[in-house]
Parts: sequence; C-alpha cells; structure tokens
Amino acid sequence: MNHEGSATARAHSNIALIKYWGNQGERLRLPANPSLSFNLAGLFTEVTVNWGADADSLTINGEQASPKATARVSSHLSALRQRLGFQGMAEVVSETNIPLGAGVASSAAAFAALTLAATTAAGFECDEATLSALARLGSGSAARSVPTGFVSLPAADTHAACHARSIAPPNHWALADVIALIETAPKKVSSLAGHRSAKTSPLQSARIKSAAERYRQCERAILTRDFDALAAVVELDSNAMHAVMMTSSPPLLYWHPASIAVMNAVTEWRRSGIPVCYTLDAGPNVHCICPQEVAPTIREGLRNIPGVVETMTAFVGKGAHVILDHAIS
Ligand code: PMV
Repeated sequence: MNHEGSATARAHSNIALIKYWGNQGERLRLPANPSLSFNLAGLFTEVTVNWGADADSLTINGEQASPKATARVSSHLSALRQRLGFQGMAEVVSETNIPLGAGVASSAAAFAALTLAATTAAGFECDEATLSALARLGSGSAARSVPTGFVSLPAADTHAACHARSIAPPNHWALADVIALIETAPKKVSSLAGHRSAKTSPLQSARIKSAAERYRQCERAILTRDFDALAAVVELDSNAMHAVMMTSSPPLLYWHPASIAVMNAVTEWRRSGIPVCYTLDAGPNVHCICPQEVAPTIREGLRNIPGVVETMTAFVGKGAHVILDHAIS
C-alpha cells in the first residue's frame, strides 16, 4: 500500500539517570542493561513527515541535512515501512531547539518524533509500546522519549518486549536538570560506535552485572522521592559508564577540564547541604539534577565556573505527541 498523508509530532529529549551503554543485540539496538530517565520539558524536536515524495529527504532547522544524517533517517523509515508493511518515500522536516550532537540527546527526541510523525502520517495508530519499540530502532534512548515523565527501558531480548514505559508522570516529583553547556559542537564519536566499543572495556561486564541493582535503587528513590538515595546512585551510574568509556579501545574520554570542575562543585554543594547531583552522557556537558526550587541557585553557581559557556534548565516533561495530523489512508 502507498501512503500520502502528512503529520507533525513533538518529542522531548531525555536525561538518563541510569544509563544505557552497550547493546546485547546491535541490529535491533537491544540494550545490554535497563535504563531510567526523565523527559526534558522545553527541549524538543518537532518532525513533520510528508509521505508521497520522490525520495526520502531531510531538512534540519531549515537546512538540507548531511548525506549521513539523511541516510540514517531513511534507514529508520525503511525499518518502519518493512515492519508495518507499507511503501512510499517521505519528505522529513525537523525543527529542534536542542544543540545537535552535544550529549543533550538530540537523537532521542528526533527519532521519537520521527517515529510518531511517520506512522501517524501513514495512517497507523500504534499504541505506546509499539511506538517506543519502533523508536528504539532509530536510537536506543529514543524509546524513552515516547512515554511521559519518568521512564524506564528494560534490557529485554526481543524487539516487541523491548519498549519503554512510564513509571511516574511529570508532576510526580518537581525535579530539574540544569545543564552546564561546556561545548556545543557535534561529538566526534557517534553513540553507535560508542555502544559497539563498550564490550572492549574490561569493566563493562561488571557494570552490566550491577546495573539491575542500580536500576532498582534509582526506581525506588524516584517513587519515594528520596533525593539523597537518588544522588548516590545517579552519580555512581554515570561514573561507571564513563569508567567503561575511558577503558574501551580506543578509549573514549568525554570529560573536559570544565566538566570535572562542575562535578567537583556539585559534590561540594551537596556536602554543604544543597540537594544536587551530576550525570554526564556521551559528551562533556554536565547535567545537574536537583529539586526545581534549587535550580536558580545551581544556575548561578555554574555561571561562576570557567569553561561553562551557557546553562539550560529543563523540568520533567511529557511524552511524544502528535501536533498536526493530515493522514490519508
Ligand atoms: O540512544 P543512543 O544510542 O544515542 O545512546 C544513548 C547513550 C547515553 O546517552 C550515553 C545514555 C542514555 O541512556 O541515554
């Protein structure tokens, strides 16, 4: 069946409190360990998909995307075409306010929005679990940008079972992510190459073995709103992932001197009684997690650290949703 509809969907970026790093199955992006995140309100990507084009194409923020980015989107569209059983080419228009490739998970928002827009435009009404599993094929963390609020992704070993679900809505706990931007240039190593290299680290198997326990601690801390417990497990998990990155071959060292300065400042602030903890994705920027009311203090503190070029603050956000739907089926 050929489709011609169009639809626009919006999805937010998310920050992992328990990180996904390494796949048990690369082709389907089945993660080696469970992960847990919250969506970032205000940091989003809107994707419009128009089926009925002559070829798959991609523009990002008004500019024609690179052949590499276009090929990645086209290959995700092919996975959707194949799994849902339809044909046709799409014009994809993406608008985002997230600095691209800077460890602020732009691919998570992009592939969650793309999956929802593409399936809606083609006339499918997929349930949340199906959408999340499909989004995972584009980017593992994108599965977590589909459900709302605080979101968990299991390390399931089949495509259908490996989807995210919400463990609590955005208003469950008024947390903030104050992001210390240290560099906004695209990262040099893609996360796909990073996931692949994880198993070359002698520390990865120990990290995977202990991830389920960290996941349980983190989930309990969120459900009981226990910030001290959250801070301890979030920092441990981020450090464990970066220890794997640093000991992979070739080694991946994402931290800049300013990243370390921020981590030290966060540790000092917490010691002085301010509830805040840090976590870093595959990039030098530091995500400072704190209760919403503490965010202005953290922002102020970050401004005084040399090497922090900007800060962005995001509260807990909702899941992917359709904004415009002109599906013809
Ligand atoms: O979704 P990917 O392949 O970009 O991987 C995300 C990896 C981290 O951001 C470092 C961790 C995570 O769980 O989001």
